[in-house]
Amino acid sequence: MRVTVVDDEMFATAAATALLEALPSAAPTLGVATGETPMRVYAELGCRSRRGEVDLSGARVIALDEYVGLDAGDPHSYTAYVRTRIADPLGIPSANVHVPQGDSADPAAAAEVFEQRIADVGGVDVQIAGIGSNGHLAFNEPGSALDSTTRVVELSQQTRHDNARFFGGRVEEVPRQAITQGLATIGRARSILLLAAGRAKADALAAALRGPVAPGVPASVLQRHGDVTVIADRAAWGRMA
Ligand code: GLP
Repeated sequence: MRVTVVDDEMFATAAATALLEALPSAAPTLGVATGETPMRVYAELGCRSRRGEVDLSGARVIALDEYVGLDAGDPHSYTAYVRTRIADPLGIPSANVHVPQGDSADPAAAAEVFEQRIADVGGVDVQIAGIGSNGHLAFNEPGSALDSTTRVVELSQQTRHDNARFFGGRVEEVPRQAITQGLATIGRARSILLLAAGRAKADALAAALRGPVAPGVPASVLQRHGDVTVIADRAAWGRMA
């Protein structure tokens, strides 16, 4: 496991650089986390793209997860996030963007379709991941099986509370379910870039990287992966230092 700890203002630069170094080709399959942490990394990639320093227009993008029950056009959906913050700024055509279909009438079937889709496109080259304050990975909440695959999950109260900031602070508007790649699915990515910023992540990050590999801390499964790079700011690294 490679670790880079940076001052907060260098976080986006360091993460974008690490990502670009990890990409195997000009047409990689990039797994993307949503959430607040990677936003500035995507913004940095967008800047570099506008300046002509990088060209990711040939990339394929695969999301980790999606809320169940939001329309794909809903601005709170991860479908909208991936389109507006990643695909559009990087010039990636929508045919190469894959997000679980959270508005499906049959979300369980949509989860299976998504698991198969990842396999069909040959898997993920580099997976950008974040970590929840409760140690979750994508929407694999504590208690998730380490060998889980893409499925419908119930979101924990803590996750709904944490994500209420994206819903105008209204917890009751945060969906109760999501489709998430499973821990085994994520573990199949050839390389993983774990991003953690802020003090709220310090306990979860230490438990994930130092504690036992166990369903209680889903992100601990990353200890079993042979190619993980961690980019953390000093606050998130606080319990590791
Ligand atoms: C969210 C997402 C994850 C994300 C994590 C941390 O709920 N489902 O994919 O990595 O929680 O998000 P943030 O960076 O906003 O703290």
